Amino acid sequence: MRLDRLLANLPTANRFDARQQLAAGRVKVDGIVVRDGLLDIREFQRVELDDTLLQAGKPALYFMLHKPAGYVSATEHDQHPTVLDLLPEAAEHNLHLAGRLDLTTTGLLLLTNDGHWSRRVTQPTSKQPKVYYVETEQVITADYITAFAQGMYFAFEDLTTLPAGLEILTPHSARLTLYEGRYHQVKRMFGHFQNKVVRLHRESVGPLVLDAALAPGQYRALTADEIARL
Ligand code: URA
Repeated sequence: MRLDRLLANLPTANRFDARQQLAAGRVKVDGIVVRDGLLDIREFQRVELDDTLLQAGKPALYFMLHKPAGYVSATEHDQHPTVLDLLPEAAEHNLHLAGRLDLTTTGLLLLTNDGHWSRRVTQPTSKQPKVYYVETEQVITADYITAFAQGMYFAFEDLTTLPAGLEILTPHSARLTLYEGRYHQVKRMFGHFQNKVVRLHRESVGPLVLDAALAPGQYRALTADEIARL
Protein backbone atom coordinates (compact mmCIF):
# COMPACT_ATOMS: atom_id res chain seq x y z
CA MET A 1 0.00 0.00 0.00
CA ARG A 2 1.14 3.57 -0.64
CA LEU A 3 2.52 5.30 2.45
CA ASP A 4 0.16 8.31 2.21
CA ARG A 5 -2.86 5.93 2.03
CA LEU A 6 -1.62 3.94 5.01
CA LEU A 7 -1.40 7.19 7.04
CA ALA A 8 -4.73 8.59 5.81
CA ASN A 9 -6.47 5.30 6.71
CA LEU A 10 -5.68 5.75 10.40
CA PRO A 11 -8.90 6.32 12.39
CA THR A 12 -7.69 9.72 13.60
CA ALA A 13 -6.29 11.01 10.31
CA ASN A 14 -7.16 12.12 6.81
CA ARG A 15 -5.24 12.89 3.62
CA PHE A 16 -4.40 16.43 4.72
CA ASP A 17 -2.98 15.18 8.06
CA ALA A 18 -0.99 12.53 6.19
CA ARG A 19 0.64 15.14 3.94
CA GLN A 20 1.51 17.32 6.96
CA GLN A 21 2.98 14.40 8.89
CA LEU A 22 5.14 13.40 5.94
CA ALA A 23 6.29 16.96 5.26
CA ALA A 24 7.18 17.46 8.93
CA GLY A 25 9.45 14.40 8.87
CA ARG A 26 7.38 12.59 11.49
CA VAL A 27 7.10 9.33 9.54
CA LYS A 28 9.79 6.64 9.53
CA VAL A 29 10.01 3.51 7.39
CA ASP A 30 12.46 0.91 8.67
CA GLY A 31 13.92 3.60 10.95
CA ILE A 32 14.49 6.19 8.20
CA VAL A 33 12.50 9.42 7.82
CA VAL A 34 10.44 9.31 4.62
CA ARG A 35 8.67 12.32 3.08
CA ASP A 36 7.48 10.68 -0.14
CA GLY A 37 3.87 9.58 0.32
CA LEU A 38 3.94 7.66 -2.96
CA LEU A 39 6.39 5.14 -1.52
CA ASP A 40 5.02 1.60 -1.80
CA ILE A 41 5.02 -0.04 1.65
CA ARG A 42 5.51 -3.80 1.82
CA GLU A 43 4.12 -5.96 4.61
CA PHE A 44 7.72 -6.60 5.70
CA GLN A 45 8.44 -2.96 6.54
CA ARG A 46 8.20 -1.19 9.90
CA VAL A 47 6.29 2.09 9.82
CA GLU A 48 6.28 4.64 12.68
CA LEU A 49 4.56 7.98 13.20
CA ASP A 50 6.46 9.85 15.93
CA ASP A 51 6.75 7.17 18.62
CA THR A 52 3.68 5.22 17.52
CA LEU A 53 4.22 1.96 15.71
CA LEU A 54 1.74 1.80 12.80
CA GLN A 55 2.99 -1.43 11.23
CA ALA A 56 5.50 -3.79 12.85
CA GLY A 57 6.56 -5.49 9.60
CA LYS A 58 6.47 -9.27 9.42
CA PRO A 59 9.64 -11.24 8.73
CA ALA A 60 10.46 -11.93 5.10
CA LEU A 61 11.51 -15.59 4.81
CA TYR A 62 13.57 -17.30 2.13
CA PHE A 63 14.56 -20.99 2.07
CA MET A 64 16.35 -23.50 -0.12
CA LEU A 65 15.02 -27.05 0.01
CA HIS A 66 16.60 -30.24 -1.27
CA LYS A 67 13.44 -31.62 -2.88
CA PRO A 68 13.21 -35.40 -2.64
CA ALA A 69 11.43 -37.51 -5.28
CA GLY A 70 7.78 -38.24 -4.53
CA TYR A 71 6.82 -34.72 -3.36
CA VAL A 72 4.63 -32.43 -5.44
CA SER A 73 5.58 -28.79 -6.07
CA ALA A 74 2.16 -27.45 -5.07
CA THR A 75 0.40 -26.23 -1.97
CA GLU A 76 -2.10 -29.11 -1.90
CA HIS A 77 -2.42 -32.51 -3.53
CA ASP A 78 -4.82 -35.40 -2.95
CA GLN A 79 -2.38 -38.25 -3.78
CA HIS A 80 1.11 -37.16 -2.80
CA PRO A 81 2.72 -35.14 -0.03
CA THR A 82 3.69 -31.62 -1.09
CA VAL A 83 7.05 -29.94 -0.63
CA LEU A 84 5.37 -27.57 1.85
CA ASP A 85 4.82 -30.58 4.15
CA LEU A 86 8.61 -30.64 4.57
CA LEU A 87 8.73 -27.15 6.15
CA PRO A 88 6.86 -26.98 9.47
CA GLU A 89 6.74 -23.14 9.27
CA ALA A 90 5.19 -23.14 5.78
CA ALA A 91 1.55 -22.72 6.79
CA GLU A 92 2.12 -20.20 9.57
CA HIS A 93 4.20 -17.94 7.34
CA ASN A 94 2.28 -18.45 4.12
CA LEU A 95 5.25 -19.76 2.18
CA HIS A 96 4.95 -20.35 -1.53
CA LEU A 97 7.22 -21.81 -4.21
CA ALA A 98 9.58 -19.79 -6.39
CA GLY A 99 9.56 -22.30 -9.26
CA ARG A 100 8.53 -25.95 -9.52
CA LEU A 101 10.02 -29.37 -10.08
CA ASP A 102 8.20 -32.51 -11.29
CA LEU A 103 7.17 -35.22 -8.83
CA THR A 104 10.19 -37.41 -9.61
CA THR A 105 12.72 -34.57 -9.96
CA THR A 106 15.06 -33.88 -7.04
CA GLY A 107 17.20 -30.89 -6.13
CA LEU A 108 17.11 -27.17 -5.49
CA LEU A 109 13.73 -25.60 -4.79
CA LEU A 110 13.23 -22.09 -3.41
CA LEU A 111 10.44 -21.07 -1.05
CA THR A 112 9.51 -17.69 0.37
CA ASN A 113 6.67 -15.51 1.67
CA ASP A 114 7.92 -12.59 -0.46
CA GLY A 115 5.87 -12.44 -3.65
CA HIS A 116 8.01 -9.69 -5.24
CA TRP A 117 11.15 -11.78 -4.84
CA SER A 118 9.61 -15.00 -6.16
CA ARG A 119 8.19 -13.17 -9.19
CA ARG A 120 11.61 -11.72 -9.91
CA VAL A 121 13.17 -15.19 -9.71
CA THR A 122 10.57 -16.95 -11.86
CA GLN A 123 9.54 -14.34 -14.44
CA PRO A 124 10.66 -15.41 -17.96
CA THR A 125 12.59 -12.18 -18.52
CA SER A 126 14.88 -12.90 -15.56
CA LYS A 127 16.61 -15.63 -17.65
CA GLN A 128 18.30 -17.07 -14.59
CA PRO A 129 20.34 -20.12 -15.64
CA LYS A 130 19.01 -23.34 -14.13
CA VAL A 131 21.43 -26.23 -14.12
CA TYR A 132 20.20 -29.84 -14.19
CA TYR A 133 22.02 -33.14 -13.87
CA VAL A 134 20.29 -35.61 -16.22
CA GLU A 135 20.49 -39.38 -16.64
CA THR A 136 18.89 -41.04 -19.63
CA GLU A 137 17.85 -44.46 -20.89
CA GLN A 138 19.58 -44.15 -24.31
CA VAL A 139 23.03 -42.82 -25.19
CA ILE A 140 23.34 -39.02 -25.41
CA THR A 141 25.13 -38.10 -28.63
CA ALA A 142 26.89 -34.92 -29.79
CA ASP A 143 23.97 -33.91 -32.04
CA TYR A 144 21.95 -33.14 -28.89
CA ILE A 145 24.41 -30.32 -28.15
CA THR A 146 23.69 -28.62 -31.49
CA ALA A 147 19.93 -29.16 -31.26
CA PHE A 148 19.70 -27.78 -27.71
CA ALA A 149 21.94 -24.81 -28.58
CA GLN A 150 19.78 -23.97 -31.62
CA GLY A 151 16.54 -24.10 -29.65
CA MET A 152 13.82 -26.67 -30.03
CA TYR A 153 10.32 -26.12 -31.40
CA PHE A 154 7.52 -26.93 -28.94
CA ALA A 155 4.35 -27.25 -31.04
CA PHE A 156 1.96 -27.14 -28.08
CA GLU A 157 3.11 -23.65 -27.05
CA ASP A 158 4.15 -22.73 -30.62
CA LEU A 159 7.54 -21.50 -29.47
CA THR A 160 11.20 -22.27 -29.85
CA THR A 161 13.13 -22.83 -26.64
CA LEU A 162 16.00 -20.49 -25.79
CA PRO A 163 19.49 -21.78 -26.57
CA ALA A 164 20.46 -24.28 -23.86
CA GLY A 165 23.91 -25.56 -22.91
CA LEU A 166 24.61 -29.29 -22.78
CA GLU A 167 27.75 -30.88 -21.38
CA ILE A 168 27.89 -34.65 -21.94
CA LEU A 169 29.39 -36.32 -18.86
CA THR A 170 29.08 -40.03 -19.72
CA PRO A 171 27.14 -41.82 -22.49
CA HIS A 172 24.01 -41.74 -20.27
CA SER A 173 24.47 -38.55 -18.24
CA ALA A 174 24.79 -34.84 -18.92
CA ARG A 175 24.59 -31.42 -17.35
CA LEU A 176 22.00 -29.14 -18.96
CA THR A 177 21.70 -25.38 -18.49
CA LEU A 178 18.31 -23.81 -19.29
CA TYR A 179 17.46 -20.10 -19.26
CA GLU A 180 13.70 -20.57 -18.95
CA GLY A 181 11.31 -23.06 -17.37
CA ARG A 182 8.75 -24.56 -19.73
CA TYR A 183 6.43 -27.39 -18.68
CA HIS A 184 8.47 -30.65 -18.43
CA GLN A 185 11.09 -28.89 -20.50
CA VAL A 186 14.05 -31.19 -19.88
CA LYS A 187 12.04 -34.36 -20.45
CA ARG A 188 10.55 -32.94 -23.63
CA MET A 189 13.94 -31.86 -25.00
CA PHE A 190 15.37 -35.35 -24.51
CA GLY A 191 12.03 -36.79 -25.66
CA HIS A 192 12.68 -35.14 -29.03
CA PHE A 193 15.40 -37.82 -29.44
CA GLN A 194 13.11 -40.57 -28.03
CA ASN A 195 15.43 -40.65 -25.04
CA LYS A 196 13.71 -41.07 -21.68
CA VAL A 197 15.03 -39.11 -18.70
CA VAL A 198 15.44 -41.58 -15.82
CA ARG A 199 16.94 -39.17 -13.29
CA LEU A 200 16.65 -35.39 -13.10
CA HIS A 201 18.24 -33.27 -10.39
CA ARG A 202 18.42 -29.46 -10.24
CA GLU A 203 21.81 -28.30 -9.01
CA SER A 204 21.41 -24.53 -9.16
CA VAL A 205 19.19 -21.55 -9.95
CA GLY A 206 21.11 -18.41 -10.97
CA PRO A 207 23.90 -17.94 -8.44
CA LEU A 208 22.26 -20.25 -5.86
CA VAL A 209 23.75 -23.73 -5.66
CA LEU A 210 22.08 -26.50 -3.70
CA ASP A 211 23.93 -26.79 -0.41
CA ALA A 212 25.78 -30.13 -0.38
CA ALA A 213 25.12 -30.39 3.37
CA LEU A 214 21.36 -30.71 2.74
CA ALA A 215 20.14 -34.30 2.43
CA PRO A 216 16.93 -34.86 0.42
CA GLY A 217 14.06 -33.38 2.43
CA GLN A 218 16.27 -30.97 4.37
CA TYR A 219 16.19 -27.19 3.99
CA ARG A 220 17.86 -24.06 5.31
CA ALA A 221 17.28 -20.30 5.33
CA LEU A 222 19.04 -18.36 2.57
CA THR A 223 21.74 -15.97 3.73
CA ALA A 224 21.26 -12.21 3.23
CA ASP A 225 23.86 -12.37 0.47
CA GLU A 226 22.05 -15.19 -1.35
CA ILE A 227 18.73 -13.32 -1.16
CA ALA A 228 20.27 -10.19 -2.61
CA ARG A 229 22.11 -12.04 -5.40
CA LEU A 230 19.00 -13.53 -6.93
N1 URA B 1 12.18 -30.06 -16.68
C1 URA B 1 11.48 -31.20 -16.44
O1 URA B 1 11.16 -31.95 -17.37
N2 URA B 1 11.14 -31.48 -15.17
C2 URA B 1 11.51 -30.71 -14.10
O2 URA B 1 11.18 -31.03 -12.96
C3 URA B 1 12.22 -29.53 -14.38
C4 URA B 1 12.56 -29.23 -15.67
